[in-house]
Order: sequence, then C-alpha cells, then structure tokens
Amino acid sequence: MKIDIFKTKEELNRSFTEKIKEIIAGKESVTIALSGGSTPKSLFDYWTQLPEGEIDWNKIKFFWGDERCVPPTDNESNYKMTKEHLFNFISVPRKNIFPIQGENDPGPEAERYGKLLNQELEATNGIPSFDILMLGMGDDGHTASIFPHELKLWHSLENCVMATHPISGQKRVSLSGRVINAAKNVFFLVTGENKAEKVKEIIEEAEQAKKKYPAALVQPYSGNLYWFLDETAAKLLNH
Ligand code: 6PG
Repeated sequence: MKIDIFKTKEELNRSFTEKIKEIIAGKESVTIALSGGSTPKSLFDYWTQLPEGEIDWNKIKFFWGDERCVPPTDNESNYKMTKEHLFNFISVPRKNIFPIQGENDPGPEAERYGKLLNQELEATNGIPSFDILMLGMGDDGHTASIFPHELKLWHSLENCVMATHPISGQKRVSLSGRVINAAKNVFFLVTGENKAEKVKEIIEEAEQAKKKYPAALVQPYSGNLYWFLDETAAKLLNH
C-alpha cells in the first residue's frame, strides 16, 4: 500500500495523471475502470485541459466500477457525469466505451456486464483483471457500490453484483471484490474532511475495519494499492 497526500486536488490530479501515463506508456491497450460520484469530476476536468496527446486516449478502454440503475440521461448516472466532464471533450472511439447500462433491469445487467468483463479483459487466475481500477470511498466506508450493510456482496463469486444504496434504496450494479482485487493497479482517490475518520480506520486499524467496511477489503493480489488523499481526508492519520 502506498499513500500519497496532497495539499490540493490539482496536485492530486497531476500526480495521479503521471502515474496513469507511466502505466499506459509501452502498452498497446489499457483497460480502466472509472469510479463515480463527485470526486472524479475534478480529475476529468483536469484531463480535458491537458495538451493534446499528453494522454493517448485511443489506447484506453473505459469501463466503470459501478453505476446507478438509472437511465444514462439521469443526473445520478456515473456515465452521464463522465460524458459531461470527459467524453464530450476528448476523442474516444465509441467502441472503447463500455457503460454499465443503468436503464436495464439490475440483476440481468450485473450478469451481462460480468460476462462482458470476461470477454474484454485479460484474466488473472480466471478473474477479469483491469490494468487500472479507480475507486472512491464513501464516508460510510463503502467503495464502488458495495455498502457496509451488504458486505457479503464483496465476497460474491460473480464478477458483478446488484446492490442497494442503504438510504435511498437506489439499485446499483457494482464490481464485486474478486474483480476489484484482481486489478493490476488499484487507486483510491479520496478527498474531503468527511472521509478522514474512515481513512484513518481503514489504513491504521485495518483488521477491525475489514469486518465493517468494504473499502477495507480492497487488497489487490498484485499488491499495487495506491491511496491518493488530500490533506483534509488524511488529517487524522498518525504519520
Ligand atoms: C458512486 C461511486 C462511489 C463513490 C463514493 C465517493 O457511484 O457513487 O462509485 O463509490 O466513489 O460514494 O463518492 P464522492 O466522490 O462523491 O465522495
């Protein structure tokens, strides 16, 4: 686990982008699972300001770690957010974008996407393996759309699961723990004071945290787990 703490989102975005460029360099094609919610917005906005060619978008196949079960036109949609903050400004071949189809029935869509991952990704020990997997973390310790009240979904033998938001009841489709931990490089991008308590618990009291928080169960077999934090999210860490 590598932890980097940044004064500003801009510095975090810059450093994360350098890491992504390192991974992309020398590869013909790269698969990335994008996280949703609000944190990635500033990263995507940053990416759209980069000089032409700084990231070779044509090399990248875009997937998602989770999606809300709403139409792609709904303001809750992670796909819509990504389109508005990224895809509307960069040229990515349509064939390289693999949305979770939030408009579909959640159960069958989880199955469809799980099969798609088997078709599109290299496998590690028979499990589809992303080159880059971005994760956010909720202030309740959820990640992707695996929430504490449905911790058992993390251990599903399926690639994707149907989940439920604990407060709104909104249905979600999410990668399961097996796919998250099969990724070659996993990046938590976590900012904001409201995340500080869980960041401390998950990083400094991991054994206890694993019993409660899905985010604590992110332990990629590759060993390549990176925490990109801003100072507010990291403020309770001891060192
Ligand atoms: C989603 C995300 C979710 C998100 C966390 C953090 O669909 O909402 O994938 O896991 O990363 O909830 O969200 P914020 O970045 O908005 O704090």
